[in-house]
Amino acid sequence: MTLTIAIDGPAAAGKGTLSRRIAEEYGFHHLDTGLTYRATAKALLDAGLPLDDEAVAEKMAREVELAGLDRSVLSAHQIGEAASKIAVMPAVRRALVEAQRGFSRKEPGTVLDGRDIGTVVCPDAAVKLYVTASPEVRAKRRYDEIVAGGGSADYHAIFEDVKKRDERDMGRADSPLRPAADAHLLDTSEMSIEAAFQAAKTLIDAALQTKI
Ligand code: CDP
Repeated sequence: MTLTIAIDGPAAAGKGTLSRRIAEEYGFHHLDTGLTYRATAKALLDAGLPLDDEAVAEKMAREVELAGLDRSVLSAHQIGEAASKIAVMPAVRRALVEAQRGFSRKEPGTVLDGRDIGTVVCPDAAVKLYVTASPEVRAKRRYDEIVAGGGSADYHAIFEDVKKRDERDMGRADSPLRPAADAHLLDTSEMSIEAAFQAAKTLIDAALQTKI
């Protein structure tokens, strides 16, 4: 039986780093589902296609190869914005969710992170975490990331973006971002990545004890 760990939360909550650490710890496969939305958006942008044509966006979504996803080529801010726009389209979500569910069945186990994993993609996941942090802390993390990478950034612009993205992700009709009823909440506002990992591991170990 495959064990799936579902990790959801808003932009820049630290899900990515946490999910990779968890996957490594348990020897599970990891899928950052945000990259599937980003890859679809990038394909549309590269082809000069509109971001508001659902049939065209669905076609691009069906062509996304999970094995080739690479955050370093999909990290641009403009791609993230476009991703959250096409993520409101039900046909795009259906196509990507189908691929994500296929991935979630890999043996011996999987970690999927995104916005709707515990609620829609893997409602039967063995463990569900909802990772969050205040918008101020998330904007600061994104700012530090850009500066550490040698770029220049404007904290206030990033803070406004984080809030706008939250509104779009939480307010959409199809699969809005929200914790599943059975998710464990992990607020990382005051936690280092290491502390968040330890807290997540304690929750996961306890949950797995009752499943195996
Ligand atoms: O890393 P960041 O927080 O910027 O976002 P991401 O995980 O790369 O996802 C980009 C966008 O894709 C999000 O703002 C969501 O609108 C959308 N997304 C989604 O709708 N469902 C998912 N499971 C993952 C991402």
